[in-house]
Amino acid sequence: MADDHTHVQEFFTARAADWDARFPEDGPAFVTAVAALGLRPGDAVLDAGCGTGRALPALRAAVGPGGAVLGADLTAAMLESAVRAGRGGSGLLIQADAARLPLRTGVLDAVFAAGLISHLSRPGPDLAELARVVRPGGSLALFHPVGRAALAARHGRRLTDGDLRAEPNLRPLLARSGWHLTSYVDETSRFLALAERTG
Ligand SMILES: C[S@@+](CC[C@H](N)C(=O)[O-])C[C@H]1O[C@@H](n2cnc3c(N)ncnc32)[C@H](O)[C@@H]1O
Repeated sequence: MADDHTHVQEFFTARAADWDARFPEDGPAFVTAVAALGLRPGDAVLDAGCGTGRALPALRAAVGPGGAVLGADLTAAMLESAVRAGRGGSGLLIQADAARLPLRTGVLDAVFAAGLISHLSRPGPDLAELARVVRPGGSLALFHPVGRAALAARHGRRLTDGDLRAEPNLRPLLARSGWHLTSYVDETSRFLALAERTG
């Protein structure tokens, strides 16, 4: 049976029109995070949960005109905002569930995912689906333009030991899903976990 994504779609549909205006200072952090993926000209990269496509220009700049950039998101309104912002020129936008990608196995060199992991209904299998579409040795960046503690404070909650993105939880979760965590940064101004596709 298909997952019910109604809640996620309603949440982001309500925020799509002013998503970029709410976080106007995030641009440089996206550029730095994309640089950490180590993309080369000609590479194929997916922005999973691309939203309004804030990472797409930096991804396109990294892979060049001969590369492939795909932005996938569940929420049509976020993709519509991406098009209005002119980001459709940086990559192909598709409405798709990151847990069921319409892509062949191993076709990508990398996946970039900003603000996605906390919204996944089954993080283990969903990260395994991201691993499926990436070639062995390819890369994953799990990014957020603020760190875990700052994000929790923004939402008025406290961080718990069970937090999915805490390193002791994330490392084994990634390992079970076809990824090896290679770098982990959680500071006020950013969260960035990098992983390499195993197998
Ligand atoms: C916090 S927003 C981040 C958007 C964008 N990456 C950014 O940083 O501006 C999370 C996005 O993930 C999308 N999303 C959530 N679950 C998803 C899934 N299973 N597959 C694809 N997109 C998903 C939402 O629709 C939303 O646009």
